[in-house]
Amino acid sequence: MIDIDMLKGAPKDEPERQYYFIEKAGEIYQKKKAIKGRELTCAIITFGCQMNVRDSEKLKGILARIGYEITDSEDADFVIFNTCTVRENANNKVYGHLGRMKHLKEADPDKMIAICGCMMQEPQVIETIKSKYKFVDIVFGTHNVYKLAELYVMKSDTKETVIDIWKDTQEVVEDLPAVREFPFKSGVNIMFGCNNFCSYCIVPYVRGRERSREPEDIIAEIEALVADGVIEVMLLGQNVNSYGKTLKHPISFAELLRRIEQIDGLKRIRFMTSHPKDLSDELIEVMASSKKICRHLHLPLQSGSTEILKRMNRRYTREDYLKLVEKLKTAIPDISLTTDIIVGYPGETEQDFSDTMSICEQVRYDAAFTFIYSRRTGTPAAALKDDNSSEVINERYNRLMNKVQEISAEQASLHTGEVTDVLVETISEQNDELFTGRMSNNMLVHFKGEKSLIGSIIRVRLIECKGFYYIGEIVR
Ligand code: SAH
Ligand code: SF4
Ligand code: F3S
Repeated sequence: MIDIDMLKGAPKDEPERQYYFIEKAGEIYQKKKAIKGRELTCAIITFGCQMNVRDSEKLKGILARIGYEITDSEDADFVIFNTCTVRENANNKVYGHLGRMKHLKEADPDKMIAICGCMMQEPQVIETIKSKYKFVDIVFGTHNVYKLAELYVMKSDTKETVIDIWKDTQEVVEDLPAVREFPFKSGVNIMFGCNNFCSYCIVPYVRGRERSREPEDIIAEIEALVADGVIEVMLLGQNVNSYGKTLKHPISFAELLRRIEQIDGLKRIRFMTSHPKDLSDELIEVMASSKKICRHLHLPLQSGSTEILKRMNRRYTREDYLKLVEKLKTAIPDISLTTDIIVGYPGETEQDFSDTMSICEQVRYDAAFTFIYSRRTGTPAAALKDDNSSEVINERYNRLMNKVQEISAEQASLHTGEVTDVLVETISEQNDELFTGRMSNNMLVHFKGEKSLIGSIIRVRLIECKGFYYIGEIVR
């Protein structure tokens, strides 16, 4: 804990400045609590990817220090929406929630509402909030998540909406608190932003330029997590394979993994996402020889057509991708491959689509996340003319879904009878004798167990495949 003299005013440097505001916010919280005569609650509703999940854990860390009790309910005294804008339907969901909030706020004017994350980095969204959702108290973006306490203190002085959006940042603020969803596993940001500018994608515009954290800071964070009971980490970045390239003393992602492997007490390492164009032989070697890196790689394909890939600015061909998959499967025979695919990119022909279908058959993904192309304002693809009707696109989407589900069910069933290590994660909601564990390859297995096993790695026999998961039994 950083010791801050409250009398000197707000420090300029981070994270000291935020610890100062956390204390100030705590005083405001105590006053509110005295008025209400009870502790106050806070809920963070998270949309989008693992990056947002991790940002929400940081927000929860700050809120818990201020004094809030963290809940899941939108009835909470303070509700924060951490938004995603990767596809249009992500935005629509958020507006739906905000509509409901309006009524709740009318019923309880003390209720506070904040909205943050990727959607807030789009100027037209801020305009909509200003005109249609004036009741929102605090609006901030992706670059200043760590400033929540400061914005909270600012809000206590004004009736206006506090809006703080930064276009980009060079800063990486270290050493602020976080509340983890699971005591035994945690996401760890290794880099922020993206420089790839895939033509369809809004992430580079809302998450800013690529910035890597110093390896020493990453290692120190993981060591502290391990000391606090964490045995599995998920290293997070939009393109982890380009980690470290922009550091003053550049290091490769593979080298970072070698160093993380050395951390005593850490048992499992995962990472996402890997861009195929930057996946090095060195990384494959490190994965193959590692005892801790999980046997799973998420390797977004997007399309099986070289022509579409070129127009998407993915910078690999169908052949490059297939060659990479072969190298991975040769070096790591038990690797599980998963992917993301976009259907209906502007100008996609039936031939392009059948190239996507056939590459799925060749690679045989253990799971594939399929998305219908969504036009994002400001991206290069938004200007493209699209000849395909939504009927054609939906029909292709359904064909692909059926194909990838059929393949993943076949892939999954290959493990029947195996005995494998699983990390016991949760108790089943339906049946409190059933527990859920995650295998190294990221598949889930349900088995009879006891509560004390949660958070440990045990041996489980895979008895029956149920499509995407297994029913198993503990091997003692
Ligand atoms: N950085 C990661 C992807 C982050 S976004 C990577 O490059 O792999 C997650 C997925 O959302 C992408 O892989 C892509 O399949 C999908 N996606 C991104 N933009 C999209 C859009 N405009 N329409 C539909 N799907 C999109
Ligand atoms: Fe988007 Fe491409 Fe960056 Fe992934 S690599 S976040 S798809 S621009
Ligand atoms: Fe969505 Fe932002 Fe992640 S747009 S997918 S939450 S980086």
